[in-house]
Amino acid sequence: MAGHAPAPLTRAIVAQLENGATTMLPSEAAIDAAEELARRFGLPLWQLCLTATDANRFVLRIARAVTKRPKVLVHNWCYHGTVDETFAISVAGGSAGTAQARPGNTGPQVDPSVTTRVVEINDLVATEAALAAGDVAAILIEPALTNIGIVLPDPGYHAALRTSGNKIRRTPHCR
Ligand SMILES: Cc1ncc(COP(=O)(O)O)c(C=O)c1O
Repeated sequence: MAGHAPAPLTRAIVAQLENGATTMLPSEAAIDAAEELARRFGLPLWQLCLTATDANRFVLRIARAVTKRPKVLVHNWCYHGTVDETFAISVAGGSAGTAQARPGNTGPQVDPSVTTRVVEINDLVATEAALAAGDVAAILIEPALTNIGIVLPDPGYHAALRTSGNKIRRTPHCR
């Protein structure tokens, strides 16, 4: 994202390209990466992807499968790549994070009001209200908003969000 070219990274990429330029199928390097991730984070299964958009899509699918809930909660004017559910903004005067399509969201596969709830960054009261509807599978956020200038989180905001998010996991459907 920052566009710099650290020499070790460039060397590693060139070395990998010399093995073949396709990134379509998993390689032995994927096994090494997965084993290292498992070692560091203590989780046995890893899905590798090529973009942050893909990572977001994958994790939302897993969250829906685990929680049996349909929606994702995001920040107003967030940026998460081309994840359809996140091209949403809040509805003025709407309650519980009611969402609508963002201006310029051309031809969404599904109306974001069906897939998404939207709250302002740093608004924990609104977040709790949006979660109270009981249909949010995951909270997907950037550490700081980057799409409308940089909007920083208040001190303690992320920790409070994790506490709210943990309540999603404690609902009866979730394993
Ligand atoms: C927070 C965040 N999510 C997702 C993306 C999309 O990344 P990609 O182009 O790898 O899909 C970006 C790219 O800037 C990002 O900053």
